[in-house]
Amino acid sequence: MPGLLYGGDYNPEQWPAGVQAEDAELMRRARVTTATVGVFAWSKLEPAPGRYDFGWLDEVLDRLAAHGVGVALATPTASPPPWFSLAHPEALPVDAGGVRLSHGSRDTYCASAPAYRTAARRIATALGEHYRGHPALAMWHVHNEYGTTCHCDLTAEAFRAWLRGRYHGLDELNDAWTTAFWGQHYTDWAQIRPPRRTQYLPNPAQVLDFRRFTSDELLAAYTEQRDVLRAATPGVPVTTNFVLGGWVPVDHARWAREVDLVAIDHYPSEPGMAAEEQAAFAADLARGWARQSPGGPHWLLMETAPNLIYTAGRMHTKEPGRMARQSLAAVARGSRGALFFQWRAPRGGAELFHSALVPHAGPDSRVYREAVALGETLDRIGETAAGTVAARVAIGYDEPSAWALQGAGLPSDRLDHAEEAQRAHRVLWRRGIGCDVIGVLDGLPAYRMLVLPGHYLMTDAQAGEVRAWVEAGGQLVVTYLTGIADEHARVRTGGYPGALRELLGIRVEEFHPLGPDDRVALVPATSGDLWPAASGGLWSEAVHLAGAHALLRYAGGVLDGLPAVTRHAAGDGMAYYVSTRLDPEAYGHLLATVAASAGAGPERSGLPSGVEAVRRQAGDRSWLFLLNHTGDEHDVPAAGVDLLTGAAVTDAIRLAAGGAAVIRET
Ligand code: GAL
Ligand code: ZN
Repeated sequence: MPGLLYGGDYNPEQWPAGVQAEDAELMRRARVTTATVGVFAWSKLEPAPGRYDFGWLDEVLDRLAAHGVGVALATPTASPPPWFSLAHPEALPVDAGGVRLSHGSRDTYCASAPAYRTAARRIATALGEHYRGHPALAMWHVHNEYGTTCHCDLTAEAFRAWLRGRYHGLDELNDAWTTAFWGQHYTDWAQIRPPRRTQYLPNPAQVLDFRRFTSDELLAAYTEQRDVLRAATPGVPVTTNFVLGGWVPVDHARWAREVDLVAIDHYPSEPGMAAEEQAAFAADLARGWARQSPGGPHWLLMETAPNLIYTAGRMHTKEPGRMARQSLAAVARGSRGALFFQWRAPRGGAELFHSALVPHAGPDSRVYREAVALGETLDRIGETAAGTVAARVAIGYDEPSAWALQGAGLPSDRLDHAEEAQRAHRVLWRRGIGCDVIGVLDGLPAYRMLVLPGHYLMTDAQAGEVRAWVEAGGQLVVTYLTGIADEHARVRTGGYPGALRELLGIRVEEFHPLGPDDRVALVPATSGDLWPAASGGLWSEAVHLAGAHALLRYAGGVLDGLPAVTRHAAGDGMAYYVSTRLDPEAYGHLLATVAASAGAGPERSGLPSGVEAVRRQAGDRSWLFLLNHTGDEHDVPAAGVDLLTGAAVTDAIRLAAGGAAVIRET
C-alpha cells in the first residue's frame, strides 16, 4: 500500500443503484483510495441460514475497483441478523442485572455463545473464499469495535474455564481475589459467576479479572476470524477498528500484537482546542500500541467524523478547513492515512444525522468540496507515508489500571487513569514535546523519559523493568496512585506506592483526597528554586523522604511542610514523584524541565500555543508537519519544500490562521 489511504465507511446497501453509481464517481473525483464496506451487512449477505447473497456486493466491489478504490472488506459480525437472534436466543447478550437484550440495534451478540461464534466464523469463511483474489480487496476489517460484555450462563462457563487457565487451583484464586473478605471463599469452580448485580459492592479482583476475560474472549473471536481470512487470502492485511473509552473491556496493548495494522476510531468529545489535544493523545496512543504490532509503527485512523464533534448533548459543526487540518495532524503522528465515518450520510437509521463526506445536502456542499481538496492534499503528501515518528518521551497508559480505578470503594470517585494520562500528554503537547503513549512497560530503552500517571496496578516484573531502565539512565516521573496495587488489585503494604517506593526514595503514609473545589498551596522546598506559583487539586498525601529530596512542599493545612514533589537519584537515572494533581503550569514546568535534562526537548522551541510541529522520518529523509490550530497567522522556522503548495521554504514559513504546511526538509 504505497501512499496514504483516504476514504471511509461506505454503506451502499442503504442506497439504490443510481446513488451507488454517483458514489463511485464522487469517490474518484475526491481521490478516495479506500472504502470500508459491509460492516453491518450480515442480514443482506446471509438472508437465511447458510444462504448467501453476494451478488450485490460483487457489483459494489467491481465498481469500486473500476474507479480505483480499494476495499477494506468487513466481516459483518457486529450485527447478527434478526433470524439468527430468533433462532439462537442464547446468543443475545445478558446485562449484569440478568436482563437478556433483544435484537433491533447492533452488537446484539454474546462472544461466548457457540452458535454465534460458529455463525461468525462461517460468514467470515464464506467472504474470504468468495473475495479471494478480487482486485478491490485491500484489507480485511473484522467485525466493528469489539467491546460487548455479556453476563449469561455461557459466559459464566467460559469465565470459569479462563480462570482455570489463569490460576493453579482454587486456593490461588481465593488468595488472588481476597475472598476471605466478606466470606466469599469458593470451594468449587462451579460457584464462580461473572460479576452480576449483587447486594452491595462487588469484589474488585473479580471485576478486574472479568474484564480481562472479556478482552481475551473477544480477542479469541477476532483471531479465529482473522485466521480463516489469512488462510483464504494470504498477504491481505487483517485488522479490526479499536474503539476507545472507559467502558471498553478490551486491553488494546495485548490486541495490538494480533492485528496486522493498529486501526483506531476516534471521536473527540470536546469542542475547541481540547478536540485537537484529544486527537493528538489518541494518535500517540495508537502509535504506542502499534509498536507491539506486526504492522507497526504505522497505525491508521480508521474512523473519525468529517464534520462533527460530539459533546454531551449536542453536535458541533466543524469550522471550514478543520477536517483537513485534523487529518494532517493524524498523518503527522504516523497514521497511514485518514479514513472517516462515513462516506454518505444515511436517510434513516439510528445515526441519521451523523456527518459524512457526502452530506445530506449532496455533493454541492462545503464538506464535499473540502473532501475533494483533502483527497488532493493527501495525494501530494503521499511520500510521507514512508516516514515514522520517533519519540523520546513515553507516557504509560495501562487499561487494566484504568478499569481498576473505576471500581467502587476507592478513596475518591474522581480517579481516572485515562484522564491522568491525557493531562500528562496535554502539558507535553502544549510545549511541543512529542511522546508515545505506551501500553506495556517493556521496550523502555527506546525512551529517555517516562511518565507514569496513576498507573495503579503494577506487577513485580513491571516494577523491575522500570527500575532497571531508571538505573540505566532513564528519567522517570511517577504521579500519585501509581504502583499502589498488584495485578490482583491488592494493595502493596508497608507504605505507598509499594511497587516503586524504594526507587522513588519516599514512603507515603496516608492519602488525603481533596474535594472538587479544594486546592492545596505548594512552595519550593529550596528557596531560590524557580517554580511558577504552584498548587495541587484532587489529591494529596503524607509523603516522607527516604532518600529523595523535596522539590515542592505542601504549605498550610494538615500536610504543611511535608514534601509534595520529590526527586531521587537511582543509578544513572532520576526518579521524580508527584503526590498531588499539579496545576497545568507547575506540571508543565516539571515535565519540561525533566524532558530538557533527558535531552527530549520540543521539535521546534518557542512555538505559540496551538501551533504544532511534528516530524516523520525515513532514513535521511524527513517531513515536518506544521499545524496552526489557532485563529491567527504565525511564522515558523523551516527549510525545504512545502508539499501542499510546492513552494520552496528557505528559513521560515507563514502559516495562515487554521492553516498547515508539510515541509520536505532539506
Ligand atoms: C463508531 C462506529 C460507527 C458509527 C460511529 C458513529 O464508533 O464504529 O459504526 O457508529 O461510531 O460515531
Ligand atoms: Zn452471553
